[in-house]
Amino acid sequence: MASKRALIIGITGQDGFFLTQLLLDKGYCVDGLIQPHAHDDTQNIKIFLKDYEKVRFQLHYGDLLDGGSLTRLINKLKPDEIYNLGAQSHVAKGFDVPEYTINANGLGALRCLEAIRALGLEGKTKFYQASTSEMFGNVPSPQSENSPFSPQSPYAASKLMAHNLVQIYRDAYGIFAVSGILFNHESCFRGDDFVTQKIVRGIASIKRGDIKHIELGNLDAIRDWGHAKDYVRGMWQMLQRDQPQDYILATGKGHTVRSFCEKSFGFAGIDIVWRGSGFDEVGENKKTGEAMVMINPDFFRPLDVNNLIGDASKAREELGWVCEFSFEDIISEMVEAALLPQKDYNK
Ligand code: NAP
Ligand code: GDD
Repeated sequence: MASKRALIIGITGQDGFFLTQLLLDKGYCVDGLIQPHAHDDTQNIKIFLKDYEKVRFQLHYGDLLDGGSLTRLINKLKPDEIYNLGAQSHVAKGFDVPEYTINANGLGALRCLEAIRALGLEGKTKFYQASTSEMFGNVPSPQSENSPFSPQSPYAASKLMAHNLVQIYRDAYGIFAVSGILFNHESCFRGDDFVTQKIVRGIASIKRGDIKHIELGNLDAIRDWGHAKDYVRGMWQMLQRDQPQDYILATGKGHTVRSFCEKSFGFAGIDIVWRGSGFDEVGENKKTGEAMVMINPDFFRPLDVNNLIGDASKAREELGWVCEFSFEDIISEMVEAALLPQKDYNK
């Protein structure tokens, strides 16, 4: 039987890396869309170019802002599966570039769905959309597939737009299109300016003597942190079903940013104690009294989401999805990778 072909939009991101690895291991031919500013030996995914010598792995230029590039590429490849992981994915930056965020994340998904429809690929190409727990905003946890949406940022609004369009194109045109509503997931490939990677790389810089302390914003926010490797497996499982349906992926356990900090410092051999409150709160090295974590008001968002904890019962029951990594596994992996000399963790 011929290999299945998958197109990954957003292949240079964290999830793109793990999904590529998973699909290549399953025997797929994987095509990745990269933006014009990227190089074809770009970042994490260069390892696949070396190992697969462009036989089962190829990169193509395109952009979610450019409908023609998407349509031409989808027409050329006629993929069995498209994973739309491409996005301006940083919630705080979305407040600074809201128009771009809506365009890339909301209209970008529409352009993909329209391409499938215009090319008559409704019966051939399955579509995965990267939806997010941010769409729930501050509705009470645990959030499930039945919880209402209440976006609190341009990013969340852009993702809800895409989420709604997936449902509309599925119902109106019979496209096998699904949204995975994923809660936060991390790894050593997490982007630098998300809080987990910022914390562990900050700890590594403190240990190397490059900086004295880390500056953070809202320490009280609760997130349900899983491992990206578990979550990309869930994405794939959603596309293997007979009927398209949306699923939540989450661990069901919430932790504050403060607790992530404390545990990460702990793994690096530094015990933290917290003193003060509000903007004056400080995380001190218990042994030396030195300030390790300080609050910088610039890192607070105009609106934040305080308590995201997901209920993934449906995915567990219907997909057989399981989380193999614990919170502690994620922290130890990330701290260890951050403590390695730069770039070595890419291997
Ligand atoms: P990420 O590391 O930020 O990766 C985003 C990817 O999108 C990158 O490859 C980026 O390319 C690409 N991209 C950005 N703008 C684009 C455009 N205009 N056209 C084409 N590609 C574009 O994100 P991630 O953590 O892997 O997450 C994957 C997806 O899941 C995202 O859509 C995110 O919003 C969503 N999500 C993530 C989480 C999470 O906790 N990680 C949870 C829920 C949902 P460059 O490398 O060139 O910038
Ligand atoms: N980035 C960042 N930087 N966040 C901080 C900081 C800081 O210095 N200090 C505190 N935080 C708080 C944020 O205010 C937020 O409440 C929490 O830490 C998590 O922030 P991020 O790591 O930036 O992730 P996010 O939850 O906003 O968004 C991520 O998860 C979403 C799923 O819920 C992204 O991956 C999104 O793309 C994804 O949809």
